[in-house]
Amino acid sequence: MPVFVIVGHKVNTDGQFSLNDLPGSTGRLDILLRCVNTSFFLSNDIRKNVEVFLVLQGELDGPKTVRFAGSELKYLNPDERSTAALVKNALMQNPGQDEEINSTPGVYVSRRGLKEVLDSMGDRPFVHLREDGKSIREVELNENFVFVMGGQFDLTEDEENLVLDHNPANVSLGPNKLHASHCITIVLNELDINK
Ligand SMILES: C[S@@+](CC[C@H](N)C(=O)[O-])C[C@H]1O[C@@H](n2cnc3c(N)ncnc32)[C@H](O)[C@@H]1O
Repeated sequence: MPVFVIVGHKVNTDGQFSLNDLPGSTGRLDILLRCVNTSFFLSNDIRKNVEVFLVLQGELDGPKTVRFAGSELKYLNPDERSTAALVKNALMQNPGQDEEINSTPGVYVSRRGLKEVLDSMGDRPFVHLREDGKSIREVELNENFVFVMGGQFDLTEDEENLVLDHNPANVSLGPNKLHASHCITIVLNELDINK
């Protein structure tokens, strides 16, 4: 099951945001919402074999990680507003330090930061998606990989070092700076082709 770990550096973590102003009141949660929808929605179908970790670092209660498990997901719709409501509901929870709360079917929230999330992947192979990586056409990828990427911003140097601890393949999807959600579409399509 492919896993996407997406870092939201400024994304709100206390759930105190307006569903009517997602780009303006959430620290660009909207970028990550598109990543969630892209990870699960096909035309008239849902991918059940994908997992997404949104590692949120913004104000006022971060870090928090919201995890979407495709095999259990319910109430996910293609519009950003309803996905934002699932995230808001998760962020309103108050998990203990080592606790993960199941806020709605297939949606979990914890106080894990990037290091804890990466370390929870066991010995799975890692890919760091970055523009200056090796072309995706030249690497053998499969559904066992963990794909790590930034949301609005690239990973910081410290975060890159955390990923380096897992010996990632640095993979480029092409010469242009892509939206995070578009990267996910390209990766999943490559995995579908490689199947
Ligand atoms: C919107 S981009 C981050 C900001 C972008 N680097 C910029 O300077 O505008 C979000 C993430 O998508 C991934 N990404 C974007 N373009 C890519 C490419 N051509 N190849 C691989 N990953 C890419 C990277 O992980 C990046 O951190």
